[in-house]
Amino acid sequence: MTNTPRPAEEAGAELHPAEELARLAAGLGAVLDRRRRSGHRGLPRLGAAVLELPPAPLPAAPQAPGRPAPASNSDRGEVTTPRGKTGESAERSAQVPRPAHPAPARETAAGAPAARPERSPAPTASTAPSGTAPSEPSAPAKPAPRRSSDAAALEAALTANLSERHKALFLAKREEVRSAARAARDLGELAERVAACRACRLCEGRTQTVFSDGAATARVMFVGEGPGAEEDRTGVPFVGAAGQLLSGIIEKGMQLSRANDVYIANVVKCRPPENRDPTPQEKAICSAWLDRQIELVDPAVIVPLGSHAAGRLLRSAAGIGRLRGRVHQLDGRKLVPTYHPAYVLRQSGPELAAVKAKVWDDIRLAMAELGL
Ligand code: URA
Ligand code: SF4
Repeated sequence: MTNTPRPAEEAGAELHPAEELARLAAGLGAVLDRRRRSGHRGLPRLGAAVLELPPAPLPAAPQAPGRPAPASNSDRGEVTTPRGKTGESAERSAQVPRPAHPAPARETAAGAPAARPERSPAPTASTAPSGTAPSEPSAPAKPAPRRSSDAAALEAALTANLSERHKALFLAKREEVRSAARAARDLGELAERVAACRACRLCEGRTQTVFSDGAATARVMFVGEGPGAEEDRTGVPFVGAAGQLLSGIIEKGMQLSRANDVYIANVVKCRPPENRDPTPQEKAICSAWLDRQIELVDPAVIVPLGSHAAGRLLRSAAGIGRLRGRVHQLDGRKLVPTYHPAYVLRQSGPELAAVKAKVWDDIRLAMAELGL
């Protein structure tokens, strides 16, 4: 069977990045107008989602030699930028934050009780520390993300700016991966299909696909964004500096074994070139593999690391600062988003202390859900 989606064969038909950008800008205006007319609010979020669209958003064909690499945008704003950026922060990965109280009994910095509201708009822990993380909104209460309208807007934004032909290509690739993923009977078969996947252009730059680490029997699953250089080289997720911090969180903090007690995967399985963020289309195509991994591993608790994983799994354009700090329900599982370890590594001084405290608040929430 055709379980290995191939890239479309139309490299020559791709638009120049500048033309794509012009289209995206025009499309963004159209989407925003439509939403305004239909009475939708929350435009900033939609805008943020659309602005993430890549210069060349197609699940595309083999690339002509000499085509300019897309600009790296993975360091923008508060959004997590997981992979690679290890240079200045590698030494800090040695400083593994430990929860002050590894037991589930949880306190906020303000001494508030450990409420674990499900879809609650007022996560006490996340806003308690001195508010130093640059990404934290200063509003006193976070409104719960409106998942269904977010999801609809995100879905619309995925294709809003594509030509009919490119839209058809994108939808076809997404559907190919979806059906190939659904047809995999177990994780071994799924991994084989992923290894052969060429459904989006990220296949062009990879050394190998990066499928998972840890145990298929795990009750807790960590989900990152996508492989970086080390992961691409080794085929194992989270082995670079961010991975070392994640290992510390799991082993020293949660007192679990990385090999036996947790499962680790990413939204995209191939390394984006130049450590850029994966595009919304790449995430949309590839995450069907992740969805099937989740079904097959069947964890009780998922910890999405950073905006890409949290946004993808919760179908939300909200940043991680708004999604973390509480337990979300998703298809009978608990989702406890937190900052990406690479984001933690890029902080220093009081921001570092504040973001570590928030990560540990989140990890304690996850531990409580696991009965740890
Ligand atoms: N960052 C990620 O999101 N995933 C990895 O596998 C490594 C770094
Ligand atoms: Fe396939 Fe995902 Fe790799 Fe794209 S990133 S080629 S969808 S495995």
